[in-house]
Amino acid sequence: MSTITFTLNGSQVTIDAPPMTRLLDLLREHLHLTGTKEGCGEGECGSCSVLLNGELVNSCLVPSLQVQGATVTTIEGLGEQSHLHPIQQCFLENGGAQCGICTPGMILATHHLLEKHPAPTLDEIREGLSGNLCRCTGYMRIFEAVQQTAKLAEAGK
Ligand code: FES
Ligand code: FES
Repeated sequence: MSTITFTLNGSQVTIDAPPMTRLLDLLREHLHLTGTKEGCGEGECGSCSVLLNGELVNSCLVPSLQVQGATVTTIEGLGEQSHLHPIQQCFLENGGAQCGICTPGMILATHHLLEKHPAPTLDEIREGLSGNLCRCTGYMRIFEAVQQTAKLAEAGK
């Protein structure tokens, strides 16, 4: 067992876990934050995406020991059911989510993209979300949700 202390969604967390526990399992099983989803479990689909020190990572590939002292943001850190984050609201309004397995990862990838490119081109959106697979939507509605989020932010809404 290792004692791991890190900042999770703005609050400090200390937890005992085997050091090679995947961050995905630490979040879902030890900390009961089930918003982060497991798809492939091997770094191919992006459904387990979280932000680690502001960078988008696949939590299924990150050993928990690596988050010692780090800052982690999961989908639970973005918005709440009663007060959705603008990205979540735009996904909702544009039909950017169907089964929902890819959605938390897509939203965190969108957040990461818009930090770097506040007014992304379609190519930049495709590139920014290229690590996140969706087998339901055909992607266009997701891209439209990202474009709407960027437009609202530009308009100061
Ligand atoms: S579950 Fe982690 S990349 Fe697919
Ligand atoms: S909404 Fe089902 S995988 Fe994207």
